[in-house]
Amino acid sequence: MKYHIITFGCQMNVSDSERIAGVLEGINFKKTSNINEANLIAVTMCSVRQSAVDRVHGLVQKFKKLNPKIKTILTGCILEKDRKKFINSFDYVIDIKDIKKLPEILKISPTRQAQKLRDNVIFAHSNYLDITPKYSNEFSAAVPIMTGCNNFCSYCVVPYTRGREVSRQAKEIISEIKILSKKNYKEIWLLGQNVNSYKDGKTNFPKLLKMANNIPGDFKLCFITSHPKDFSDELIKTMKNCKKLSKRLNLPIQSGDDEILKKMNRPYTVAQYKALVKKIRKAIPDISLSTDIIVGFPGETKKQFQNTVKTLKEIGFDMAFVNKYSPRAGTAASKMKDNVPWAEKKRREKILIELVNEPR
Ligand code: SAH
Ligand code: SF4
Ligand code: F3S
Repeated sequence: MKYHIITFGCQMNVSDSERIAGVLEGINFKKTSNINEANLIAVTMCSVRQSAVDRVHGLVQKFKKLNPKIKTILTGCILEKDRKKFINSFDYVIDIKDIKKLPEILKISPTRQAQKLRDNVIFAHSNYLDITPKYSNEFSAAVPIMTGCNNFCSYCVVPYTRGREVSRQAKEIISEIKILSKKNYKEIWLLGQNVNSYKDGKTNFPKLLKMANNIPGDFKLCFITSHPKDFSDELIKTMKNCKKLSKRLNLPIQSGDDEILKKMNRPYTVAQYKALVKKIRKAIPDISLSTDIIVGFPGETKKQFQNTVKTLKEIGFDMAFVNKYSPRAGTAASKMKDNVPWAEKKRREKILIELVNEPR
């Protein structure tokens, strides 16, 4: 039996797909990159923007045309309202926290599983991060250290699709990194929606980094994502002193306007963000800094957008991921009037992309 996995979204999902692969290989499925020879297709979906959800709707039609007997699984970050739609088009819709149970779930007939989901019978969630993954790359590997998010930025679905923050045990993370180091991996990514909130007893994120840094081997440690609100001095010091830590940092600002930041429920001001960057650059002069930005947030005026342009110029990021605001059902921002036309969002996006790509 052969399986094929399609992954959308962030590195968290890529890592989750590696765990799904681990479970499927445990029940003797073999991976195929050729969708035509697959008996089973798993889709790990992202819900962060509507366009990502629409792509999944498009895919299902394609699968059934390909082979009506093919078994289809949908997992990843799924919003409740979409789950209700997808149970009619996928054979199995599975919460990511239930993937350990895949061998048992696959024994249930698709109609019974759909019925259970309609009746809201929740399978017993378990710690899926301890599944042994099948890594998809031989050079770079990702190790999830936490999942979920408690921040509730007003535009974001992640707290709804992944639930509250749960940190993985430090000893489990360290033993996974040791295995990767022995296998000669050169780049190890520690993943979490907000790695700064990592906590396992007395082990906070900087302590975890120090423990990882002390593991013998020739590898670089990277992490994603950090929230500016709790980027501590201890973390800066740790980044400066730990030799294995990469000099690349993604620190999402989201907007360069204080009013918009407030509406986004990002609890920092532009001035505080700039002061943080200054402190980081002072401690680590060769740091390469990237950021995430949303343009066209509800009510974002041309003047407020100009504040973002100005802030980006002042900070001089090495890279920026620019996103057009997409309203997400259930979030606080979805109740605000999305009054920036799509064409204007595209215009603002283009300006920022050109700005960060300009040689400095
Ligand atoms: N935990 C990370 C980000 C996760 S989502 C953080 O706090 O930064 C990745 C990026 O998608 C975000 O940084 C944001 O820029 C973008 N994003 C999230 N929700 C969005 C929405 N509704 N519309 C457009 N972009 C969005
Ligand atoms: Fe979403 Fe904000 Fe959590 Fe990041 S910190 S995942 S943007 S709610
Ligand atoms: Fe998307 Fe989920 Fe990542 S919604 S951005 S795949 S955490």
